[in-house]
Amino acid sequence: MEEVRHFIKKVLKVSPLYSAYLGVADHFWPKFRQHRRRQREESEKKLPKLSLSQDHIEHCELVLDRAALLAKLPNSGVVAEIGVAKGEFSSQILHKTNPESLHLIDIWDSERYHHLYGAVRSRFDEEIEDGTVEISQRFSTEAADHFPDDYFDWVYIDTDHAYETTRDELQAYAPKIKAGGIIAGHDYTLGNWKKAYRYGVIEAVHEFCVRHNWKLAYLTAEVKENRSFAIKRMGE
Ligand SMILES: C[S@@+](CC[C@H](N)C(=O)[O-])C[C@H]1O[C@@H](n2cnc3c(N)ncnc32)[C@H](O)[C@@H]1O
Repeated sequence: MEEVRHFIKKVLKVSPLYSAYLGVADHFWPKFRQHRRRQREESEKKLPKLSLSQDHIEHCELVLDRAALLAKLPNSGVVAEIGVAKGEFSSQILHKTNPESLHLIDIWDSERYHHLYGAVRSRFDEEIEDGTVEISQRFSTEAADHFPDDYFDWVYIDTDHAYETTRDELQAYAPKIKAGGIIAGHDYTLGNWKKAYRYGVIEAVHEFCVRHNWKLAYLTAEVKENRSFAIKRMGE
């Protein structure tokens, strides 16, 4: 919006209409900006901001990036990646953690991602054939119902990063995690600055830890990439 405004300003500056434009812009743009700001304030108020206690972070380890996080997660486990896109991170999970089984869960239904379902099937056709990889084209929370309780050693969540989605995913997958297991995920960050899109992963994770007695086990420290988290039950 700012770019458009600057462009219009540049063009109109050389025209006699300029002073008329200034009047109109002064009248409308501040209102528009105020409206957008009010919308942001309203949605910000809806996010729960529960504070963690020392117990929630006592043994949390900071690791460099999500590749380093993979090195900390159990090898040869029963694993799910929830939100797969074209399978870039799935490939790292396979090669770095050698899972007994890897469930790739994604709805692949949006304009941006729908064509990737076939690409992921071909990418992992050998592993699908030998039973290591299973693909599930479903919504994240709906897919959770298809697994027994205490099934996964760990899961990695990377879907739409919204507060409500993350909250529901944490609740849906928690019972599916074995004792000592881990829920990890991407986008432990406030949002996408360039797209002015607010995420809710931090709020959902903290709320979940406080309400359900889980704690932070690992956080990553990337600067060029969004950060990841990993949580486990208190006392495990
Ligand atoms: C950011 S991409 C995943 C990137 C991938 N984890 C990686 O690191 O290479 C997000 C994916 O989540 C999927 N997705 C978004 N919302 C979802 C939902 N509610 N249930 C299942 N998949 C979802 C999209 O289709 C998309 O493929």
